[in-house]
Amino acid sequence: MTENQDSPLSLGGLMKGKRAIITGVANERSIAWAIAQAFHREGAELVFTYPGEAMGARVRPLAEGLGAKAILDCDVSKDADIERTVADVKKVWDRVDVVVHAIGYAPRSALDGRFTDATTREIWQITMDVSAYSLIALARAFKPMMPPGSSIVSLTYYGAEKVVSNYNVMGVAKAALEASTRYLAEDLGKDGIRVNAISAGPIKTLAAAGIKGMRAMLSENAERTPLRRNVDQEDCARAALYLCSDLAANVTGEILHVDAGQNIVGVVSMG
Ligand SMILES: NC(=O)c1ccc[n+]([C@@H]2O[C@H](COP(=O)([O-])OP(=O)(O)OC[C@H]3O[C@@H](n4cnc5c(N)ncnc54)[C@H](O)[C@@H]3O)[C@@H](O)[C@H]2O)c1
Repeated sequence: MTENQDSPLSLGGLMKGKRAIITGVANERSIAWAIAQAFHREGAELVFTYPGEAMGARVRPLAEGLGAKAILDCDVSKDADIERTVADVKKVWDRVDVVVHAIGYAPRSALDGRFTDATTREIWQITMDVSAYSLIALARAFKPMMPPGSSIVSLTYYGAEKVVSNYNVMGVAKAALEASTRYLAEDLGKDGIRVNAISAGPIKTLAAAGIKGMRAMLSENAERTPLRRNVDQEDCARAALYLCSDLAANVTGEILHVDAGQNIVGVVSMG
């Protein structure tokens, strides 16, 4: 169980009959794992993807535990992987109602030290490709399978809006992800597909471990948010339930902050 909630929320089948693609599960601490569990509790059917067999070995037992319809190798930096994934999904489902994009990657050297020096052309290209372009690639690939009323959700962070030490090029990629969310929402709105993002406060996960100073940031953050605490994976899962269910039928292009209020703080006295 997570630190903010005493028991899993049960909404009586909010996602019943929905078919969801879950990307981005690396382990039990992954935000995508909490989302998958919440969707499963609410009656959704799930397909999981992972990049490469090393990750697959970790994801498979988790996904099987939730009765996954398919568990597919999909490195989002490869068009062929995305095409194969869609073809494999078509073997088990004739439609997709939800795509969860919970993918972020930057080479470790990019997340330490001076932005100017750390952000080489190669690092820029890799980070933008995997962390931002992939949302557009997945949206385009799954669009023909997504009926009106379906939705896409991704995970972003405050470092897209303001400078956060050491977040560096990931902040730029998240800014691109957030802008892409709006452009996709406008474009795919014609097909009745909604596109939103959850801007999560800092959470200790595998991806976050790569950011220098994360531990100190977590403890400082917990003292400074309006709610004087950090968020956790379950908070993101609850927001995803809202955005991907019919509760948010008229919500699109939105960046929903799930951050205990962190983003509203300017200069406040901590007294
Ligand atoms: N943890 C935080 O503090 C935090 C805060 C805000 C937003 N986010 C975002 O949440 C999302 C999920 O991250 P997380 O914190 O749960 O960490 P995580 O390490 O559990 O998940 C990151 C996932 O990205 C996947 N990935 C990386 N490269 C990939 C590729 N080429 N193809 C396909 N998948 C790839 C990894 O396999 C992994 O499952 C990311 O977008 C992250 O930026 C995290």
